[in-house]
Amino acid sequence: MEFKEILNRRYSCKSYNDKEVKNNDVIQILENAILAPNAGNLQAWRFIIIRNEEKKQEVSIACLQQKWMNQASIFIAIAEDLEYVKLHYGKRSDLYCAQDSSLAASNIMSTAASLDLDSCFISAFDEGMLRNALSLPENLKPYCVITIGYGNKKSEEKKRRSLYDFVSFNTYGNKIQSKNSFSLKNKTKKLVKKLTKHTK
Ligand SMILES: Cc1cc2nc3c(=O)[nH]c(=O)nc-3n(C[C@H](O)[C@H](O)[C@H](O)COP(=O)(O)O)c2cc1C
Repeated sequence: MEFKEILNRRYSCKSYNDKEVKNNDVIQILENAILAPNAGNLQAWRFIIIRNEEKKQEVSIACLQQKWMNQASIFIAIAEDLEYVKLHYGKRSDLYCAQDSSLAASNIMSTAASLDLDSCFISAFDEGMLRNALSLPENLKPYCVITIGYGNKKSEEKKRRSLYDFVSFNTYGNKIQSKNSFSLKNKTKKLVKKLTKHTK
């Protein structure tokens, strides 16, 4: 699959069938997770694979009763050794751990999509309940849970606003493109062309 195809294939899947995710796929997914960039290469991430039905129930309850999660074959929870990261980065550590785990999660979900698997990123949870369910020691903090399985439907066209809404040139809010900048697509391209004409 082309990279763009993989990104488009991934969507937040909340309806799965009974087919189990193979262990080999789980290994490939986690091998790719740890290729993500991470603060200081401390590799403070920890991955907890949850396949046990009772444990899945407990985790989905900790995730604010998102019961649909239980249909998925496996969950992967990502926790980080926040105490270890604090020794290096002090106050920035919580942010760095959140960023580490999100980058690993992105690799997980992209790899799952490339293997024809579906997934959903979940970070709505009660931290205490999730800690208990996963028996996390004090030094570890949970950041997200990812459901993985075979979805009942395929990805639909993504609902995203135009690039124009999000991109500025050089300073925030400047929508005027210099001659050397990359070009934005579709209506953005036309609009930017119109705007640059006035600045020549
Ligand atoms: C930080 C974050 C937290 C999220 N938490 C949840 C969640 O608790 N439950 C859920 O169903 N989806 C959750 N999502 C999924 C988003 O709702 C979803 O990514 C978004 O609607 C865009 O849809 P798409 O993933 O299909 O492109 C979360 C996504 C992110 C990035």
